[in-house]
Amino acid sequence: MVIRRILTADEPMLREKTKKVSHFDASLHRLLDDLLETMRDAPGIGLAANQVGVPLRVAVIELEEKVTELINPQVVKSSGEVLDWEGCLSIPGFVAEVTRAAKVTVKAQDRHGKEFRIKGEELLARALQHEIDHLNGVLYIDYLESLEELVPVGEHPSGVEEGQAAGI
Ligand code: NI
Repeated sequence: MVIRRILTADEPMLREKTKKVSHFDASLHRLLDDLLETMRDAPGIGLAANQVGVPLRVAVIELEEKVTELINPQVVKSSGEVLDWEGCLSIPGFVAEVTRAAKVTVKAQDRHGKEFRIKGEELLARALQHEIDHLNGVLYIDYLESLEELVPVGEHPSGVEEGQAAGI
């Protein structure tokens, strides 16, 4: 496994839509393993393939010691709204309040191409929406009215799980 460099928000690849995966082969498995390693090293709870320079619809999430590998994910159902703090490994050092659907159901494929569904709420719902946004070239700062809404990590109001929410 290799720790890859995480692109930052100024790099154009983060703004491009990624391509659907059709080959569930060894190179995909290597990419997934590297994503997990890179995400843990950061550290973070979610990472999309285009954040390490690979424009494919692939992402990983790790929450409560459960790793979820997402190939070709898409939201099939969402409900509710919740405003909470959110950050991104490609925008290190900052968080902002972002409104997301409170609950989502995502359809995706695993590393062997088998389709599955995952339901999430709270931080998992936020991470799923955040990673799928990445695969569409969208960053959470796109939802802000102004970049002045960004708050340096460590300076935002207490009670925020900054360690997790900042590393999506
Ligand atoms: Ni991110």
